[in-house]
Amino acid sequence: RIAYVNGRYVPHRDAAVHVEDRGYQFADGVYEVCEVFGGRLVDETRHLDRLDRSLRELRIAAPMGRKALLTIMRETVARNRVRHGLVYLQVSRGVARRDHKFPDPSTPPALVVTAKSIDPAAGERTAAAGVAVITVPETRWARPDIKSVSLLPNVLAKQQAKEAGAGEAWFVDQDGTVLEGASTNAWIVTHDGRIVTRQADNRILRGVTRTGVVDLLGRRNLTLEERPFTVEEARQAAEAFITSASSLVIPVVKIDGAAVGDGKPGPTALALRGSLHQVTE
Ligand code: PDD
Repeated sequence: RIAYVNGRYVPHRDAAVHVEDRGYQFADGVYEVCEVFGGRLVDETRHLDRLDRSLRELRIAAPMGRKALLTIMRETVARNRVRHGLVYLQVSRGVARRDHKFPDPSTPPALVVTAKSIDPAAGERTAAAGVAVITVPETRWARPDIKSVSLLPNVLAKQQAKEAGAGEAWFVDQDGTVLEGASTNAWIVTHDGRIVTRQADNRILRGVTRTGVVDLLGRRNLTLEERPFTVEEARQAAEAFITSASSLVIPVVKIDGAAVGDGKPGPTALALRGSLHQVTE
């Protein structure tokens, strides 16, 4: 495997950042995970738009222009011979002597790009079985709309899910409404067929896959409601599902141990999963 690190393609096992990289010391950086399907990047424009926004919100300089960034992403995919998989891209505020304040403006941001293959059959198996989710209190900072590498609450929530035999954890707001998963957006389908997901305000990440599903619903004349929903509403819903670039659409079959609907992957979720690539390609 090959990784891109600050201007060089290096063997993955030797790919390293400096000990004074601000991403390493302060989680002072942002990232994107982009799907690769049939050897091509999926929704790369939306990922790069979101990267620009994350960088702007944190006042980190763009490491280079968009065309150059795309070239590196595609080159990393090609060098790793990825047909189906993921590209990971991370930008940090650069390397400087440890000091909380921003470094000198001449400090270049640091850029890392990696790519890995994923067996597409594994995702299909997960989708066919569905996942269980647990709910956890929201413990993140106030700006999870920024795709920051500061993911400690997400790491802890995901581990807690694993230890409970679940595949995802949903962060729940003080008022009992579901925000999003540790690495996915959260959705439900009502008994009369309306599809509900929380509005993409500052409290959740605006998932690229979420946007893809929103577009798909519009084209299929399915009813979308962007609003908060409670854990209780999700438990009583006809279906629930989660979305992300790495998992696409995965049905949720259990919430905190209780079955959703008939406890089997829902037809709406599976249909959306099946349709997603036909529109994103
Ligand atoms: N996770 N919400 C959170 C908190 C996420 O970390 C992600 C993405 C999403 C879904 O966004 P998208 O559809 O753009 O992947 C929602 C990535 C895949 C990750 O951290 O691996």
